[in-house]
Amino acid sequence: MNRTIENAYRDFPILTGNPDYSYLDNAATTQKPASVLEAIQEYYSGYNANVYRAIHRWGEEATRAYEESRTKTAAFINAPSTRQILFTSGTTDSINLAASSFCRRFISPGDEIILTEMEHHSNLVPWQIQAEHHGAVLRFIPITETGELDLEVLETLWSEKTRLLALTQMSNVLGTVNPVKEITAEAHARGVKVLVDAAQSVPHMRVDVQDLDCDLLAFSGHKMYGPTGIGVLYGKEELLQELPPYRGGGEMIRTVTLEGSEWNELPHKFEAGTPNIAGAVGLGAAIDYLNGWGMEAVEKREAALTALLVEGIRGLKGYTLYGRAPERGGIAAFCREGSHSHDLCSYLDSKGFALRAGHHCAHPLASKLGALSTVRASVSFCNREEEIIHLLETLETAGSELF
Ligand code: ALA
Repeated sequence: MNRTIENAYRDFPILTGNPDYSYLDNAATTQKPASVLEAIQEYYSGYNANVYRAIHRWGEEATRAYEESRTKTAAFINAPSTRQILFTSGTTDSINLAASSFCRRFISPGDEIILTEMEHHSNLVPWQIQAEHHGAVLRFIPITETGELDLEVLETLWSEKTRLLALTQMSNVLGTVNPVKEITAEAHARGVKVLVDAAQSVPHMRVDVQDLDCDLLAFSGHKMYGPTGIGVLYGKEELLQELPPYRGGGEMIRTVTLEGSEWNELPHKFEAGTPNIAGAVGLGAAIDYLNGWGMEAVEKREAALTALLVEGIRGLKGYTLYGRAPERGGIAAFCREGSHSHDLCSYLDSKGFALRAGHHCAHPLASKLGALSTVRASVSFCNREEEIIHLLETLETAGSELF
């Protein structure tokens, strides 16, 4: 069989090792191709050492590999420089860093931050914590019937006191892809900075930070075929220069006396302590893997699988699909009349399908939809048509066997 994106599953040991199980929980975390597993194994068995500090060959090799991953990450999102790529432990850590440093530098009591009703907890709770601490007011862009941002209401939310707008590029429940570039231009016209939560978008579409012109952008390694415990915060260089450090410790300092310290240059100012070196190496391998297919090919393949999934669920009797945005990614959250989503999800597991059920770490959105718990299927290019067709058939006949 020729190696094509249609049979990309063959690159994933966990998928080839479990041919009777369909993994459709890619929005929670993705599986890892052999090349990522090998890169991590090679680091630990070939040149494991701490970065920057060591005057020996393994230390130099580890530093080179760690920085090479930063270079690959910068190129992947078209960041102008590696100084703008901060390695974190994931999207949550990136947004906590951004919220803490931004609010300490720019927020005074009464200032306003705009979020949206479709944020998952990572892009909501850090802002709630900082708003409480600094006396800021949070305002929210509501969602429409179709599950899109209500941009007419946004027009009424701006004020002289708005300092920042933080929004997701792709909803992890509705699949909606938001017009981030247009909203960023609107914000900038009013002198407002923009943070983009790209946890669900970076793995599935070409994201170009210069084109979006956003000020900050966060994403996770484990949702893009890399390991857990590694993530990225991209920032515009002038802004990162102005922000105070988030965590104190080794490597983020230039000089330290008992009385005080001076900060290291970017990006080290924000990377205190020994970083997740294996994680960064794995992320670099994941980026190589995605580049091997090309993001345009990934997007095209996932659009076809998404259409099959979404249209299929829409056509099933007794099921409600949430979110009808025309611009959407491969996420479908749904309910079955008369069944609790956890029961349906367990049933699907017994039939060989891994999906997620619950509020998907977006409790306010679930309340707004009037469906506190839904079942969610989320696709990746490494899924196959037959898995989705089989899922739809299983959903169709679920009724008789569920009770
Ligand atoms: N935010 C992740 C999800 O949507 C964990 O599943």
